[in-house]
Amino acid sequence: MGFPKDFLWGGATAANQCEGGWNVDGKGIALSDVQTGGSVNEPRYTTYVTKDGERCKAPMFAPVPSDATYEVFEDCYYPYHEGVDFYHRYKEDIALLAEMGFKVFRMSIAWTRIFPNGIEDEPNREGLEFYRNVFKELKKYNIEPLVTIFHYDMPLYMEQNLGGWTNRKLIDLYTKYAETLFKEYKGLVKYWLTINEINSTILIKNYVPNMSEEEIRRRYQELHNLLVASARAVKVGHEIDSENMIGAMVAGVSGYPRTCSPDDVLANQKRSQDLFYYTADTMVRGEYPAFAEKIWKENGVKLEFGENDEKDLKEGTVDMMTFSYYSTSCTSTDPNVEKAKGNFTTGAKNPYLKYSEWGWSLDPTGLRIFLNDLNGRYNNLPMMVVENGLGAIDKLEEDGTIHDPYRIEYLREHVKAMELALEDGVNLIGYTSWGCIDLVSASTGEMKKRYGYIYVDRNNDGSGTMNRYKKDSFYWYKKCIESNGEEI
Ligand code: BG6
Repeated sequence: MGFPKDFLWGGATAANQCEGGWNVDGKGIALSDVQTGGSVNEPRYTTYVTKDGERCKAPMFAPVPSDATYEVFEDCYYPYHEGVDFYHRYKEDIALLAEMGFKVFRMSIAWTRIFPNGIEDEPNREGLEFYRNVFKELKKYNIEPLVTIFHYDMPLYMEQNLGGWTNRKLIDLYTKYAETLFKEYKGLVKYWLTINEINSTILIKNYVPNMSEEEIRRRYQELHNLLVASARAVKVGHEIDSENMIGAMVAGVSGYPRTCSPDDVLANQKRSQDLFYYTADTMVRGEYPAFAEKIWKENGVKLEFGENDEKDLKEGTVDMMTFSYYSTSCTSTDPNVEKAKGNFTTGAKNPYLKYSEWGWSLDPTGLRIFLNDLNGRYNNLPMMVVENGLGAIDKLEEDGTIHDPYRIEYLREHVKAMELALEDGVNLIGYTSWGCIDLVSASTGEMKKRYGYIYVDRNNDGSGTMNRYKKDSFYWYKKCIESNGEEI
């Protein structure tokens, strides 16, 4: 059987992690521009000044005092400021993606390039032109853009002055931003994702130690506002162009009970409901699932609904389900069990799996299981795996080669798992592996945690030529695409 002939093979990026050019051509500052570099053991910090003028930094997900002012400090290093300079090198990069045979390229638009503070009446033309040029360049090679409208780069003004997504004003501001993009790029872009890993706002309650109950409640409200904003964007996107195919992008939370004890099995089911299906069901079905009431009760959540929220959720259901999938974790009711890391998740370690240098499990079969679960639950709705990959340290050899068999092995196993899932009957239409060109890691701010087929000569401290080199995985993926997943 194999992959369908029009399968969308490609790779994925996000604006703030690769573009650089953080303050040029009218771009405003994003919250992610005040986040420093970190490492696997040292968090990234958000830098700010207190009302008494004290310079401070807080770990990336920790709260910052409400009267503080976010600021860029001259003596701190902010890896997103230069990214990997996609802003200036996109033609060279797209030519390399085309050489691999990409059918689709997932990228995001930086909100701050279009509306520098998020609140302006008129968009910044220079920002709009930049993305138009990128889309035209992709078109030249018949590569479909898959555009994420919002990927972790909130305009700083909105965080600082409006309090971020807790404020319902953001629903309108986001809808206006999305509408601008749909109108501007009608005919150039067909595939859209509304909000990257939209569930991450509640997901990190498992990740950040000792999050207060009040903060958790705030985050459920934030997620509600995000879901309404996403639904409104879907509606507007369909009104502007009925050809638009607009997807949910939910961080994949999948795993196993640590043992077959019914308590562990139940705990695992509850974890999936809370951290994944609560969000995904709402986006696909247009209403919160039955188990939402229980989640609200357990967390003391009283959601504030706007007058039209229910209607908007109903009318703004997505055309496809897309998700990130890197690893799985286990749920255990035993507090002493050994723990493992993951993408915004922690959980019990799985003795049957291997782990990456950053402690994320390697579980291709888990992808097949997850795809089957989703396919059954959502009645054959089209799906894409829009992030997947192995963050690893690569070595640039003297002769400009990079040998990354570990990455090839990871990807090969996941491609095989997708093929088996297709045989199982899932409706999978595309695959965009993460960080197809090396970019700055979102969780650690490092360059050395690399995912790409294309190596970028840039180091954790910002040194390096920014030159691009083809890794062994570049040639492997080229062949994989050429043979539609047969020669891997
Ligand atoms: C996802 C994000 O959480 O995982 C990406 O959507 C991110 O932005 C990716 O880069 C991989 O995580 P990391 O921390 O290894 O960069």
